[in-house]
This record gives sequence, structure tokens and C-alpha cells, in this order.
Amino acid sequence: MTSTLSPETSAPTEQEVDRTFLAAQARSDLLEQELRTQPERHRVLTGDRPTGPLHLGHYLGTLRNRVRLQSLGVPVFLVIADYQVITDRDATGPLRDRVRGLVADYLAVGLDPDRTAIFPHSAVPALNQLLVPFLSLVSAAELERNPTVKAEAAASRRALSGLLLTYPVHQAADILCCGGTVVPVGRDQLPHLEVTRLIARRFAERYGPVFAEPAALLADVPTILGTDGAKMSKSRGNTIALSASADETAAAIRAARTDDERRITYEPDRRPEVANLLTVAASLTGRSPVELADQVGPRGAAALKNLVTTVVNDALAPVRARRRELVADPGYLDAVLVDGTATVTALAVETLDRVREAMGMRYVP
Ligand code: TRP
Repeated sequence: MTSTLSPETSAPTEQEVDRTFLAAQARSDLLEQELRTQPERHRVLTGDRPTGPLHLGHYLGTLRNRVRLQSLGVPVFLVIADYQVITDRDATGPLRDRVRGLVADYLAVGLDPDRTAIFPHSAVPALNQLLVPFLSLVSAAELERNPTVKAEAAASRRALSGLLLTYPVHQAADILCCGGTVVPVGRDQLPHLEVTRLIARRFAERYGPVFAEPAALLADVPTILGTDGAKMSKSRGNTIALSASADETAAAIRAARTDDERRITYEPDRRPEVANLLTVAASLTGRSPVELADQVGPRGAAALKNLVTTVVNDALAPVRARRRELVADPGYLDAVLVDGTATVTALAVETLDRVREAMGMRYVP
């Protein structure tokens, strides 16, 4: 690898994408083993945009995994990516409430502020300042060919903002400012992590080793669809929020799309909506979707929905009870953020100092 910025502008080919994925999967498998034996050698960094409440898809896809990593003894850092909210919209929305809501969601599922630092990235100036040198390490063409940025720009149906174009670099600052080495992500976020890895390498080539190269931890979790059979997402209104009541949950599941075959079977390709409901119940009970399908069998979609409603409400009952207590105490939620921000600020200031030192920019001690 040379230091020259790549001149390529075209999207990566399918083979390139597959090769990147296979290499990332191999690194992820190794990492998973290392986390079991030497958790203290690593730091997990991941996060969310504060655009709305977290939902069942987040719970099954990432929140449970974060709690698992925390209990392995790996220090966890959670970035609330508030600047990222304005990558594709004109207003920040009711941010204060959303950020508190996110903190409540995190704590309610079992993330522990003594082991997990929770911080909004706008509150850490040193993190944001890393963006300036980092931007010099990538070319405009490399930013433009990022498939996830392209997809997000298309979905937003507005002109690509400079912030959306550069947000993978901002994510590199989130990860590298506090020495993150493990980034649990889904496959769609892999291109971003490749940008972080590239930035860490190029910085080392130009200025010397300051950053460890982080790796993706690819979660082995099923993709959960929304109640309409499309991708579960806040903007589609097809989610079941962690904060929803048992009745709201029952109503959402009752309204979920299925098909008109009576007997329940697990056939993900042919019957994706039915399979999705079975997958949800399976991942919350530890039973197999086929076994659950057999259990419901001829009793049809209504019986399946009753089963899923019970399973989801039972699993979320303790989370919801804890969440209600937490939101009643906004002072506590704010204190958790103040604490997490202080932890990350100390690390980010130290990182920025080492960056300035390496770049010959340390004029002021
Ligand atoms: N981009 C992520 C999302 O949209 C959130 C995020 C911001 C993140 N910074 C990060 C994830 C750093 C992992 C690492 O969900």
C-alpha cells in the first residue's frame, strides 16, 4: 500500500466487495476468540444516531451483543452520533429528548455506565478536531465510491451534503479518538470501517504509528424485518420500540403482514413475512424457527401472532419496567452522559496530542 490517494471513482466490483467481506469475516472470527481470552486488550466502540427510539431490531441485532461484550470484560464506548443526524436532514429534531431516550434504552437493556462510556460526539471537541487531519488522508473519489454513503444519499432524496460525504471519516474519529479496536457492525457498515482502517494505516505511513487498526466484529444475528415485511426502520414506522407498551406491541404484531396460507411453515425465501415472525420468536426463546412453526402448524397466522406477542412482551417486560424508572429521572440520565463525556474527552485529548506531536504541530504544551 502506498500513500497515494486512489484515483478510482467507480463503485467497487462485486468481487472486490466479496473479497473485503471474506477478509473482514476472518478477522472477525479471530477477534471473537481473542475477546474471550484477553478482553482487557480491546476496546469496543459503536453507536447510534439519535433519530428516534431504539426498537426490537436494534435489541436483537446489536444491543444484546453489546451487553454480551460488556460482560466479557471488554470496555465499551457508545457514541451518540448527534452530528450525524444532520447528514441528511435540515433540522436536529427534538434532540435533547431523543438523546435522553437513547441513554434510557441503553441502560434499560443492561448496559452499565460503570463499564460502558456513553457520550454524544458533539460534546467532545478533540474528537471533532481529528477530522481535519483525517480528511487529508482520503481522496474525494474514495469518499464518492463508498456504497453505503451512496445508498444513504439516494434514500434521502436530496443533494448529497458535504457532511454525508465525509461522515465515514467522522466515524473514524469516533473510533480512533478513544482507541477503539473492535467495532461491532452489520455487513452494510463494513465500507465505513474500511475507511477507518485506511485512515489508521495512512496516518502511520505518513507520520508514524499512533493508531491501532480496528476491526469489525460481524455479528451472527438474523436480519429482522419490520411488521410490513420491509426492512425495519424508524422512518418506515414498521418497528416495535423498546419503549412501546404491551398493548401497542400486540397491536403492531396483530397488524403485521403475513400471507394467506393457513398452515405455518418456516420458508424464509417463499414466505418471508411468516419466517420473520418465527425468527423473532426464535431469537428471543433460543428455540429453532422450524420447531416453533411445527408447534403453531395448522392454527394459522393468528395463533403465530399470539405466540410472538407473548414472547416479545415477556422478553421486554423487565427492560420496559427499568426504562420507565430511568425516564422518570432525567437528572440521572444527564449525569451518565456527563460521566461518559469526561471519560472520552480525557482519551481524545491525549490522542489529539499524540497526533499533533507526530505531525510536528505541538506548539503549545
Ligand atoms: N453510523 C452508525 C449508524 O448510523 C452510527 C455510528 C456513528 C457508528 N459512529 C460510529 C457506528 C462509529 C460504529 C462506529 O448507526
